[in-house]
Amino acid sequence: MTFSYMPGFGNDFETETLPGSLPQGRNSPQRPAYGLYAEQLSGSPFTAPRGTNERSWLYRIRPSVKHTGRFKPASYPLWKTAPNVGDHELALGQYRWNPVPMPKEPTDFIQGIRSMTTAGDVLGQTGMAAHVYVANTSMVDDHFFNADGELLIVPQVGALRFVTEMGVIELRPGEIAVLPRGLVFKVELVDKEVRGYVCENYGAKLTMPDRGPIGANCLANPRDFKTPCAWFEEKETPCRLIVKWCGNFHVTEIGHSPLDVVAWHGNYAPYKYDLATFSPVGAILFDHPDPSIFTVLTAPSGEEGTANIDFVIFPPRWLVAEDTFRPPWYHRNIMSEFMGLIHGQYDAKEEGFVPGGISLHNLMLAHGPDAPGFEKASRTELKPVKLEDTMAFMFETRFPQMLTRYGAELETRQDNYIDCWADLKKRFNGTPEGDWS
Ligand SMILES: [Fe+2]
Repeated sequence: MTFSYMPGFGNDFETETLPGSLPQGRNSPQRPAYGLYAEQLSGSPFTAPRGTNERSWLYRIRPSVKHTGRFKPASYPLWKTAPNVGDHELALGQYRWNPVPMPKEPTDFIQGIRSMTTAGDVLGQTGMAAHVYVANTSMVDDHFFNADGELLIVPQVGALRFVTEMGVIELRPGEIAVLPRGLVFKVELVDKEVRGYVCENYGAKLTMPDRGPIGANCLANPRDFKTPCAWFEEKETPCRLIVKWCGNFHVTEIGHSPLDVVAWHGNYAPYKYDLATFSPVGAILFDHPDPSIFTVLTAPSGEEGTANIDFVIFPPRWLVAEDTFRPPWYHRNIMSEFMGLIHGQYDAKEEGFVPGGISLHNLMLAHGPDAPGFEKASRTELKPVKLEDTMAFMFETRFPQMLTRYGAELETRQDNYIDCWADLKKRFNGTPEGDWS
């Protein structure tokens, strides 16, 4: 089966699976065609300004009130929610991990979420959590929605299928998907085992960054975002709906599939994006811009220029700058940086940061190229070089990222990460040339 998509970012989309199932000229006719129920899904307050007002109208076999019964508590102990502070003993530090191991027991996508950090406060709808997912089992009769935030999914191993109430998104490593807060979905595995990263955004929705003097093109372009066309199933068998709500999980049993939206229209919808379509902009003479130049999506915090989350990538690109230290410079940052590597090598750390790995450089903690990376970049001949086979990314937030107990105790944490800077030599000897012996 192939699934189709509509191009554009934040468009007012419309899509129907049966001819005439989408009402025209009104949202709520007295009797919608096919006996469907009309229902609004609001992603912003009704009165949000036009530029940030988001809602969709869903025409479905049953209204969502029929997709929940009485709730019972459910347990997903490795999925943590901010504030989640002080549940481990690990001291402050710069940290790096090898990939999270694949599960040995049957594990679906929701069971396979392992929280690494949380930031901000879900009750204040600020901040985020950075998770890894690992899974080897498709969700069949289980469905899920997250009231706590939207989910940005970054696959690293294996293809998956997000079967949502608004359509189906197929996703493979190199692509990302965003599932809005409240959207009901299940996850099917296309490959046997999958692994990847998730950013859970408690705050205002991710959007495209302003480009300023860059102009009307480059970076991520709106037409490369793809929203699925409507898809539904008519399945009258026992199903479950799992809900994450203010950090707790609840489950309800229903007698049918909640994926029953026959037609919909609106601008509150899931989407995917192929990172290979990102057109990087950079220095063409000397120095390099701040990494914010590689922002794909940004979630505003309410304070101008200060993101709740920036989703930034480090894609293949040409390095041409003259008389320039080309890798990322050493720095300390008020923003907190959670990095992952989808494939290849990262130019500031050629060893030790492996695909599927994670690094965490938190509020004001120093970081930068490791000693071999510094040596190489300081002595290399500065001809044009193409960085190939690389795709790292960063979830960056204005809030400190609190490490979870799972992350602190994970056996793949590299206890010697701090040593990657140990061999940086003192070059100062009082002469303008310095000591490069
Ligand atoms: Fe950094």
